[in-house]
Amino acid sequence: DRKPRVLSGIQPTSDSFHIGNYLGALRQWVALQDTSDAFYMVVDLHAITVDHEPKVLHQRSRVSAAQLLALGVDPEKSALFVQSQVPEHPMLAWILGAETGFGEASRMTQFKDKSAKQERTTVGLFTYPILQAADILLYQTDQVPVGEDQRQHLELTRDLAIRFNTTYGQTFIVPEPHIVKETATIKDLAEPEKKMSKSSASPRGCVYLLDEPNQMRKKIKSAVTDSEAEVRYDVEHKPGVSNLLNIYAALGNTTIEKLEAEYAGRGYGDFKGDLAEVVADSLGPIAARTKEYLADKAELDRILTAGAEKARQVASRTLAKAYKKVGF
Ligand code: ADP
Ligand code: NA
Repeated sequence: DRKPRVLSGIQPTSDSFHIGNYLGALRQWVALQDTSDAFYMVVDLHAITVDHEPKVLHQRSRVSAAQLLALGVDPEKSALFVQSQVPEHPMLAWILGAETGFGEASRMTQFKDKSAKQERTTVGLFTYPILQAADILLYQTDQVPVGEDQRQHLELTRDLAIRFNTTYGQTFIVPEPHIVKETATIKDLAEPEKKMSKSSASPRGCVYLLDEPNQMRKKIKSAVTDSEAEVRYDVEHKPGVSNLLNIYAALGNTTIEKLEAEYAGRGYGDFKGDLAEVVADSLGPIAARTKEYLADKAELDRILTAGAEKARQVASRTLAKAYKKVGF
């Protein structure tokens, strides 16, 4: 009986991850590595589907890996690697592309959102979810810890796995998304109707893991709330306060009910001030640890090379199986 296989990836498209990435996905990566056979990767192949600069991309891949280590991904417990170091990913993606309907691929809402923001839209951005399916299926993955925005891509991955298995015989495990409801979509602090993202319109909308603790405090304290003064969870009418409650409950290891009781009749000032401290205390140390991992270049290289070797052992086995099935 094997441990459940877990796989997930994150794009190196910014200098720092944000609190939405952390609470939606990365915290689960760290938690799951104790009970599962985990593969975590920096998905640089995905990052070139939008405009990029080679030098910046290379550095961001390293900073991304260092951040993952800093927030607790343990290379003794999980394989940590950079996607482009494992050539089986685009090779399986080609096979899966031949199984994907054009209409099916055209229904992906993230493509519509992302392409609307680009000056030129690439075929790579369009086929991105097929590469993502390959990322997952190569490892015979049982669970994929991600945020809510990835649910549709996971559905496509499942459909492709089932279709391939039906056509060619059992080849891939059909994966399940692992989505934590409360933190599945962390909202932008300046526009709490929107998802927090690195492309936030307001510099105060997004708390980065590498922000200075004082920047983190300022952003939390200036988060948009509402004209009431009641700390109450109501996503529809109080999206700003509800978002802060979700963040507080997750980082403070407490519940929304307890927080509502604690802040009853106390207004937003105390609530935001305390949350600012919780955020600064729990995320503040990540920046210094990231720097340490970046400073030891040889050690970071060693971790990523070992991770890629471990990944290739599994990925090459699955690819060989799929090649044989399609008649290569
Ligand atoms: P981004 O969406 O910022 O471009 P990625 O696409 O690389 O980042 O996403 C990395 C992980 O973080 C994915 O699992 C994604 O679902 C999750 N994620 C991204 N933004 C949020 C958010 N606002 N709330 C919860 N999870 C999120
Ligand atoms: Na995303």
